[in-house]
Amino acid sequence: MNDFVRIVEVGPRDGLQNEKQLVSTADKIELIDRLSATGLRSIEATSFVSPKWVPQLADAAEVFAGIQRRAGVSYPVLVPNEQGYERALAVGAEEVAVFTAASEQFNRTNTNAGIEESLLRFEPILARAKADGIKVRGYVSTVLGCPYQGAVPLADVVRVAVRLHGMGCYEVSLGDTIGVGTPLKARAMLEAVAAEIPMEALAVHFHDTYGQALANIAACLELGVRVVDAAVAGTGGCPYARGASGNVASEDVVYMLQGMGLATGIDLPALAATGNWLADRLGRPTGSKTGKALAVS
Ligand code: HMG
Ligand code: MG
Repeated sequence: MNDFVRIVEVGPRDGLQNEKQLVSTADKIELIDRLSATGLRSIEATSFVSPKWVPQLADAAEVFAGIQRRAGVSYPVLVPNEQGYERALAVGAEEVAVFTAASEQFNRTNTNAGIEESLLRFEPILARAKADGIKVRGYVSTVLGCPYQGAVPLADVVRVAVRLHGMGCYEVSLGDTIGVGTPLKARAMLEAVAAEIPMEALAVHFHDTYGQALANIAACLELGVRVVDAAVAGTGGCPYARGASGNVASEDVVYMLQGMGLATGIDLPALAATGNWLADRLGRPTGSKTGKALAVS
């Protein structure tokens, strides 16, 4: 089995979208530039959503224009609709990510649209992206539980993931938005989706609300998934999902992968230093245990 795991660093987007205090544009740019120097291959840079809904990322265009893009690194940005796609295109983004959910009420709260309506919104984006040579990633949220409906049937996760993949998303990221999943459930969920979509086109995205994220990732790696979303310093959460706390910390994932003999191409001390720098800028301790351990060692 392939021993390379691609980490999709979502800290600059998922991490910073949920910060109470505004992070300066200069700090966002510095964060991404520091991350670019760690060996990461994918860094989700920002989000072209409505600034009324997520004021934290209202400076998306300035951030994207200000970063130093490195050869060999992808910088996807989140887009909720064609307006977001156009804003992303205008600053030269080469990859975008669309997002919907496996549960209806969460999707309405997050995007003011039902699941079907959101999928219909994506169709013109996918068509334009194909013509424009832009790669599109797709997210399915609430794959292991929803803050409104509770349990989410696996069939709903599979149906939405298949639609995103079928409309042309090269990769579908399965999001445990509120971090309620546990390893056996995470495995069963991934297994159900992988029965319909090749494992190479799947990623896992765990929030760490109940401290289960690393265990869930380990369980999913055993099934063969090789793309893992994570956020440096364990930042993150969705402002429209009650109970959503930070993502699994990228430093902790890289440490675990190294211990399992899986390659990431990432310089762990440099990544941990970046996480510790970010925590310092945010004025609180890092959410990464590896970051803490490396800071004192
Ligand atoms: P809406 O209010 O229904 O949109 O929001 P609208 O089309 O009626 O437009 C309302 C206003 O917003 C208009 O401005 C539009 O121009 C503007 P006005 O005329 O009132 O001045 N607008 C925009 N402005 C800039 N960029 C845009 C844009 N679109 C509209 N793209 C909408 C619908 C989808 C836009 C809104 O609900 C939204 O932006 N939601 C995003 C919420 C969000 O970002 N959530 C977090 C990301 S998802 C996540 O974190 C989960 C994930 O990590 C995976 C996981 O953990 O599960 C990915
Ligand atoms: Mg998330």
